Amino acid sequence: SDLDDFLLKLPKIELHLHIEGTLEPELRFRLAERNNIELPYSSAAELRASYDFDDLPSFLTGYYDGMRVLRTEQDFYDLAWAYFEKAAGQNVRYTEIFFDPQAHTGRGVAFDTVIRGLRRAQLDGRRLLHLHVQLIMCFLRDYQPEFAMATLLESLPYREWIVGVGLDSDERGNPPRKFAEVFHRAREEGYLLTMHCDVDQENTTEHIRQCLHEIEVDRIDHGVNILTDPELLAEARRRRIGLTACPISNGWVSDGLKAPEIKRLLDAGLKVTVNSDDPAYFGGYVSENLAAVQRALELTRHDLVRLQRNAVESCWAPPAVKDRIS
Ligand code: ADE
Ligand code: ZN
Repeated sequence: SDLDDFLLKLPKIELHLHIEGTLEPELRFRLAERNNIELPYSSAAELRASYDFDDLPSFLTGYYDGMRVLRTEQDFYDLAWAYFEKAAGQNVRYTEIFFDPQAHTGRGVAFDTVIRGLRRAQLDGRRLLHLHVQLIMCFLRDYQPEFAMATLLESLPYREWIVGVGLDSDERGNPPRKFAEVFHRAREEGYLLTMHCDVDQENTTEHIRQCLHEIEVDRIDHGVNILTDPELLAEARRRRIGLTACPISNGWVSDGLKAPEIKRLLDAGLKVTVNSDDPAYFGGYVSENLAAVQRALELTRHDLVRLQRNAVESCWAPPAVKDRIS
């Protein structure tokens, strides 16, 4: 349709994407072969067919298992490059990608290996695909804050390559407050701050409250449950806090895409955006996520443009880059 065509051509921004979540089964097989790692599947198709997540923990198990094939700097380069080509093909002009260093250092891959591979892909993406990429380092909230603090300190020699820090992984029993000291220090080092408050998780509204009032984040990842609390909603609007919704991901870990909630946030003047989270696992890059919300809600062109404008406003690009992508 006309609208599909419009969507395809729309210049896009992606603000919630885990680079390890872009590991497609085919690349996983290729890297496993290159690194002499045996996979318990006979083909990429069989691996893909095995994906069956019904909540966040069941997804995370598959996600961490998948990344065992990532070992060398070239592996991280190839992972990022594959995503950048995909994104450029969907007319993404700017993307902020999360990476999970602890998921690699915890199994013996050096921080330096991870970041150098991503950095080299980032520079090539800008040069060859005209795709502007920034890196956000996430801490795994199901580990102790001491491990996060050690990782923060380990990142400081690469400070100029990383725009901000986030918090992801299993939310149960791991509130933002657990990482208050780590995020305070990150802010002092000049990092911008975001944290996951995934949809319909335990204590999600309390987690959003801690993000806004205790950690004082610059953005919230997901955060759609803020609709249930008028005070928090008003505060996020007043502070123009970006909310990075991920509809297809929500469809796997909760009871639906949360498309009506996204529309309500948009209409309430919140800086909500639409993103893909872990596209290789959930089966949809940014265009498919926008199309899914569009189909569910019959969004107009004007709504789609508003979503993209929200992304420009809440992204962490330098002003000159913001001008170029808006
Ligand atoms: N790590 C990768 N994807 C995630 C998600 N959707 N929620 C929490 N942690 C994650
Ligand atoms: Zn996420």
